[in-house]
Amino acid sequence: MTFRDYLTEQAGVVDAALEALTPPVEAPPETLHRAMRYSLFAGGKRLRPILCMEAARVVSDRARGVERAACALEMVHTYSLIHDDLPALDNDDLRRGRPTCHKVFGEAMAILAGDALLTLAFQVLGSLEDVSEALRSRMMFELADAAGTPRGMVAGQVLDLEGEGKVPDPALLESIHRAKTGALIRASVRIGAICAGAAGSELDPFSSFGEHIGLAFQIVDDLLDVEESSEALGKTAGKDAAQHKITFPAVYGAGESRRMAERERQAAHAALEPFGPRAARLKELADFVIHRRT
Ligand code: IPE
Ligand code: IPE
Ligand code: MG
Ligand code: MG
Ligand code: MG
Repeated sequence: MTFRDYLTEQAGVVDAALEALTPPVEAPPETLHRAMRYSLFAGGKRLRPILCMEAARVVSDRARGVERAACALEMVHTYSLIHDDLPALDNDDLRRGRPTCHKVFGEAMAILAGDALLTLAFQVLGSLEDVSEALRSRMMFELADAAGTPRGMVAGQVLDLEGEGKVPDPALLESIHRAKTGALIRASVRIGAICAGAAGSELDPFSSFGEHIGLAFQIVDDLLDVEESSEALGKTAGKDAAQHKITFPAVYGAGESRRMAERERQAAHAALEPFGPRAARLKELADFVIHRRT
């Protein structure tokens, strides 16, 4: 199967599992469920859940519950996008090729849809009946650690907002990116491996791989903001410079940022060496993170 076909197939698996786990629009409160589904099913790349399922496959061919665990990552990610777009944060009108959640449903409903997706993620992990209680609680810790503070996404968003207009500083830049985006991508890989039974030092290659592609992912996100059109991205291009964000292109320039992303890709591949050909798809996913245009 080509890598493109693999991505499409895996996104289909994620979509079907998300569909089953998300409350239907017919269930009250309908507006909330409509807002959650509007953002969830707007055509994201599903990179985090696909990474999760592929990391599990590297460990074992039979990891029960991993599709649902993967959905928890997409729920937290989608919540982070809804809140990132709010007027109080990045104030964006366009996301995944459509008007942002708050533009369609209002700010109050967008805040609550984000809250509900975040909460649903933990409900999903907590109700994986076919996964042992010990693994469930480890996956829940991983997700909370990556989503919250001080190491996770919320902490990174605060650094990102407080960094607006500050002198671009390499150390601050790296700590923003590692927390706001890197932590959830690292957790995606680790949660997949944990779900498949990896523990202790067996998780080290997954952590290292996740950290390298996590950083590469946000370097490329910053580059695409400069290089691509809003139409191609499905979100407003050129916003980082307009909002004086601390980004890789702002600190290092586009050429050096590209080279840095490429070095992270190579380091991500190197981290997977112990697994040999079992990790071939995971390596292709690292390449995709760097070479994607959206
Ligand atoms: C965008 O993430 C937001 C960041 C964390 C940089 P993605 O590029 O994965 O967005 P979707 O899920 O494909 O829409
Ligand atoms: C946001 O980073 C990362 C999140 C935690 C959502 P950005 O603000 O750069 O994400 P985009 O470019 O709006 O998708
Ligand atoms: Mg932002
Ligand atoms: Mg943003
Ligand atoms: Mg961005």
